[in-house]
Amino acid sequence: MLRPLLCLLAAIALPGASGQSSQSFSNNMKLDISSCPIMYFGQKYEQVYVNFTNDNTVFCFNGFYNPGTKGDCLVAPKAEDGQMAIYGRSDGIQMVVNIFVPTITNSMNCSVLLNLGSTIFLYLVNFGPQAVLMLQSPESPVIDVLANSDKVDTLRPVEGIAFSDVSGCRYLGLPYKVGSVVSSDPKTCQSLTCSTADVLTHSACGPLDRCGRNGICSFDTICTVTGPAVIDIQGHKNSVEDRCAYSLLSIPSVPNFLVLANFQERRRKDVSFLDSVTLQVAGSGVQIHLIQGGRVLLNNSSMVLSSSVQLVNGVELSKDNTGVTAKVSLSNFTTSVFFDGYTAQIRVQGPSGSSLQGLCGNSSRPLSGLRLSEHSSTSCETQYSDTSDSTINCTMVTERCNLLKKAPFSSCNIDPEPYIKACSDTLCRYPAVDGLPCQFLEAYTRACSLMSNTTLEGWRTVAECSSPDAFCQDQTCIDNEFCGETSGGETRCFCRSIFASPYREISALGTPTVCSQNSASLTLIGCLLAEKGFDYSALHLRDPTCTGQVDEKTHMVTFSFNSNSCGTQVMTNSTEIIYKNTIMAQNSSSDIITRQDQVHIDFSCIQTQPDLKTVAFRIRDSSVVQVITSGPWTYTLTMKAYTDASRTQAVDPSTEVQLNQKIWVELATDGLDANVVSLVTESCWATNQASPDGGLRYDLILNSCPNVADQTVTMQGNGQGTSNYFSFNMFQFSGSSGEIYLHCKLQLCVKQESSCIPVCSGARGRRSIRSRYEAAFISMAWTT
Ligand SMILES: *[C@@H]1O[C@H](CO)[C@@H](O)[C@H](O)[C@H]1NC(C)=O
Ligand SMILES: *[C@@H]1O[C@H](CO)[C@@H](O)[C@H](O)[C@H]1NC(C)=O
Ligand SMILES: *[C@@H]1O[C@H](CO)[C@@H](O)[C@H](O)[C@H]1NC(C)=O
Ligand SMILES: *[C@@H]1O[C@H](CO)[C@@H](O)[C@H](O)[C@H]1NC(C)=O
Ligand SMILES: *[C@@H]1O[C@H](CO)[C@@H](O)[C@H](O)[C@H]1NC(C)=O
Ligand SMILES: *[C@@H]1O[C@H](CO)[C@@H](O)[C@H](O)[C@H]1NC(C)=O
Ligand SMILES: *[C@@H]1O[C@H](CO)[C@@H](O)[C@H](O)[C@H]1NC(C)=O
Ligand SMILES: *[C@@H]1O[C@H](CO)[C@@H](O)[C@H](O)[C@H]1NC(C)=O
Ligand SMILES: *[C@@H]1O[C@H](CO)[C@@H](O)[C@H](O)[C@H]1NC(C)=O
Ligand SMILES: *[C@@H]1O[C@H](CO)[C@@H](O)[C@H](O)[C@H]1NC(C)=O
Repeated sequence: MLRPLLCLLAAIALPGASGQSSQSFSNNMKLDISSCPIMYFGQKYEQVYVNFTNDNTVFCFNGFYNPGTKGDCLVAPKAEDGQMAIYGRSDGIQMVVNIFVPTITNSMNCSVLLNLGSTIFLYLVNFGPQAVLMLQSPESPVIDVLANSDKVDTLRPVEGIAFSDVSGCRYLGLPYKVGSVVSSDPKTCQSLTCSTADVLTHSACGPLDRCGRNGICSFDTICTVTGPAVIDIQGHKNSVEDRCAYSLLSIPSVPNFLVLANFQERRRKDVSFLDSVTLQVAGSGVQIHLIQGGRVLLNNSSMVLSSSVQLVNGVELSKDNTGVTAKVSLSNFTTSVFFDGYTAQIRVQGPSGSSLQGLCGNSSRPLSGLRLSEHSSTSCETQYSDTSDSTINCTMVTERCNLLKKAPFSSCNIDPEPYIKACSDTLCRYPAVDGLPCQFLEAYTRACSLMSNTTLEGWRTVAECSSPDAFCQDQTCIDNEFCGETSGGETRCFCRSIFASPYREISALGTPTVCSQNSASLTLIGCLLAEKGFDYSALHLRDPTCTGQVDEKTHMVTFSFNSNSCGTQVMTNSTEIIYKNTIMAQNSSSDIITRQDQVHIDFSCIQTQPDLKTVAFRIRDSSVVQVITSGPWTYTLTMKAYTDASRTQAVDPSTEVQLNQKIWVELATDGLDANVVSLVTESCWATNQASPDGGLRYDLILNSCPNVADQTVTMQGNGQGTSNYFSFNMFQFSGSSGEIYLHCKLQLCVKQESSCIPVCSGARGRRSIRSRYEAAFISMAWTT
């Protein structure tokens, strides 16, 4: 490559061409080069002083050569005489300089040729603020370049040509070559560099660097993710609004490594929180999941950690009362991830000038590009709205967040603004519970102590933040839950808002009852029960020995029963069987009082009656007669059963009544004036015990009308006269003894104005507005 160029150069630049001025020089001559001055290490020179010494030819710029003074000189081989010529621009010189001296960026103005003997051609080439020495010779002369008497370069032709860029800098009288460090302070890592011709530039560590003990800048940054807020390594704040997984941090030169963050909602549907942080080291296949409660999952299995460092596949894991730290060194980077369940702080140290990717690298980038679809569900981007919390006073919250501007926080040199913004943006929308009032301040002070080695003495007193202890240590909540604090200051698992909202909307505590052949089951959700103050593992059915089946993985409890277990109530009519049970709270025998609401969740299954059973009933007494005194009236009341509608076939103790056989029951009075009062049958019901409110109960007449749930019930003459009767199909309480007690409650109605006849329209009997008198209560017993 050199030879063709040299030929080119020889063709264009050889002297003897049209020199503007040409003069011979000899020893002790001063040459005027003011028409083509030269920049020599920051100094502009317009003269060349020539000394022919015993050994050399010396050209100096700052006076005749004197070995005792600091000279800016060129020391060339010995000669007897020489020639000087000044030329204008030359495309040939411009071209070869551009090729061989890439630091020259200006264009050439002129050159001075110093020619010794017939073989040495030394050009001082002016490029405006820059200058180049070009030595051309077929032999191998050596020319030393001295600045301030120090040899800074040597021209030694290779293939006949050599170059030296002499446009350096001068600082405090001393010359510096381009690119050299003029001064540096290892304490601050600040330095002064000769960057281009006579331009000195100051440099300090970059904004993301720290000055190390060795005076070398190194990359050292922190990223804070707290609640929904991400404060990236530049100190910019952004917020994650959805419930997706995001790339938090990756390092371009460490392709196997990824820190990702999962966001989930907590108490409100419209605010997401950092929920867990995962470190992935692809090479070793290790996946470390930092979750709430100071818990760490390694490849999905829970780890036991302590304050002493545990090394797992190259990751140092440790835990203290404030949270968990995972530290990993890969290539020239050390990454340390701290997580306390609400806040993650990631410190990355590495070579100066590094950059990071992910939310921590630049949180201002469009977030969609950082979502990790393989780690999140497809619906994670759905935005939800929620009713705003009227108890939040944003002014007050912001005042508190602004504490970060005041002492003792102000002694930290980290910009508090993004932390203040994270704090107020979050707490103006989300209630300040679960330790949140201190969380943002805590994150700022931790960043200060990590990055500027500043402990902000007394901040806990100023901010009334008592304990540095992480919240919910060692509590295990499942995916649908988060760990929070009750108003009483206790921590427990709470339902995530979006998960719970379909249940809350219908006030359900679990999934609908599942009914099968003759059994039923119902599943209740632990966190929904906890909201009502119930421990999901302490519930039981009517029979207290029938407790639920607790699933510790899902925090659900399932209750199952069949028709003849767990105190199940079974009611039948001709077409249907109803199984009914109730979930209730455990009665702790030691407690005399309870402050919990009683749980009482009824659930039932209705099934079509498969077959009629042949059970015969007998009445205990043919009729029941009572003498009643009620207000001004004294009368007898008779309750009597018949097997026919015209009430001629009275049921007596010898009569066998079959299940589902229709029975007419007459309630007749004697001694009342039908012109004044009417008899109203207000209600009739059956029980399986003699007591009217003991055991199982089945309603026949409600509110003076037939129970619409039992289509077999009819009534005649109610409220029309002093007697009336109703009919129903004989039934049995399943899973109970054959006894049936029929109870009726009767009223007397004064017939003055409108009718005493109850209006039984459609679904529900309407209460008469007429005044009635509680008159009588009568019961009748049946047995199988
Ligand atoms: C160079 O020339 C100057 C001027 O004649 C003279 O004074 C000086 O001694 C010479 N230097 C040397 C080293 O010969
Ligand atoms: C050379 O060019 C520079 C600009 O590049 C100009 O300022 C200067 O006057 C020119 N001439 C000389 C002799 O330096
Ligand atoms: C974790 O799982 C990965 C892949 O499933 C496996 O390569 C790695 O060895 C596991 N690490 C540990 C510590 O079990
Ligand atoms: C962890 O569990 C999830 C779901 O159970 C599974 O998809 C994933 O592959 C597991 N990861 C490892 C490393 O075993
Ligand atoms: C980073 O590490 C690689 C080898 O892993 C090494 O070659 C390189 O010089 C290091 N870079 C710095 C800036 O330390
Ligand atoms: C971050 O990303 C935004 C948007 O892409 C860009 O404008 C900005 O310059 C980036 N900031 C840094 C420090 O890379
Ligand atoms: C909110 O707090 C500020 C400052 O504490 C107080 O002045 C203001 O009255 C409060 N507003 C409401 C609506 O309570
Ligand atoms: C932090 O400060 C303490 C005391 O002020 C000192 O002992 C320690 O070496 C410092 N650490 C760093 C990393 O500068
Ligand atoms: C619970 O216990 C109290 C007192 O020991 C008792 O009065 C109450 O009936 C019990 N409740 C149930 C549902 O067992
Ligand atoms: C049996 O009871 C159920 C529920 O109370 C009711 O829907 C159904 O109509 C009743 N069947 C008859 C024949 O009365």
